[in-house]
Amino acid sequence: MAIDTRINQSKLPKHVAVIMDGNGRWAKQRGKLRTFGHGKGVKAVRETVETAAEMGIEYLTLYAFSTENWNRPKFEVNALMTLLVKTINKETKTLTENNIRLNAIGDLQSLPSSCLKELNEAIEKTKGNTRMTLTLALSYSSKWEMTEAIKAIAKNVKSGKLDVEAINESTIDEHLCTLGIPDPELLIRTSGEHRISNFLLWQIAYAELYFTDKLWPDFEKIDFEAAIIDYQGRERRFGKISEQVSA
Ligand code: IPE
Ligand code: IPE
Ligand code: MG
Repeated sequence: MAIDTRINQSKLPKHVAVIMDGNGRWAKQRGKLRTFGHGKGVKAVRETVETAAEMGIEYLTLYAFSTENWNRPKFEVNALMTLLVKTINKETKTLTENNIRLNAIGDLQSLPSSCLKELNEAIEKTKGNTRMTLTLALSYSSKWEMTEAIKAIAKNVKSGKLDVEAINESTIDEHLCTLGIPDPELLIRTSGEHRISNFLLWQIAYAELYFTDKLWPDFEKIDFEAAIIDYQGRERRFGKISEQVSA
């Protein structure tokens, strides 16, 4: 289906990040187990990926599992990991057909080996694809990522490879998992929660934030389009004044 004509193709964000939230509440509202909601969330993932690619978004990053999510009941964590393996396995072919490259950020070594294997295979199979990079944030948290970056930078200073005075914003960018990916211009969060929950804290320094009350399994093409239209209506000033930006 065609993309909403109100969307200005020349003003698209390059990178959209999404906090996919509300699966559990969606299921509860229907008297079902939370895990039922996670299963239903896969359809919203598929639709969002397809819409973003069709629209011409170059980078889409989805928050799928946070470091803190490991503290959920074991039953739910296991169900999420199983769903992850199944979904990646099932969707790799479609990703390739749509010329989408899969990428992952986070403490991937902490994932069950079956997940990691499936993930690495899909990343390998899709590495030549060029239309859009889909990044899954898995066992990811921004504070974890920044801690790792600081450790790596400190090691380079200690070994004499890096001069303290040479450290700048690019040094930090280069030590984050998102190396090579531009910062998101737009961050979407579903489910009516107005928080970041430890996601891409450094990278979203100047992102436009878009919140919707829709629960993730209900998030559709029109909702993604609505977020883009809202984004395109905003004036991004980056500290300047309006007259400077419009000049
Ligand atoms: C988002 O939905 C999916 C994950 C965090 C894995 P939730 O599971 O957080 O659903 P709610 O927020 O409890 O409704
Ligand atoms: C954020 O959602 C993490 C993901 C979407 C993967 P949560 O549901 O875990 O966040 P909080 O706990 O409500 O902040
Ligand atoms: Mg939640």
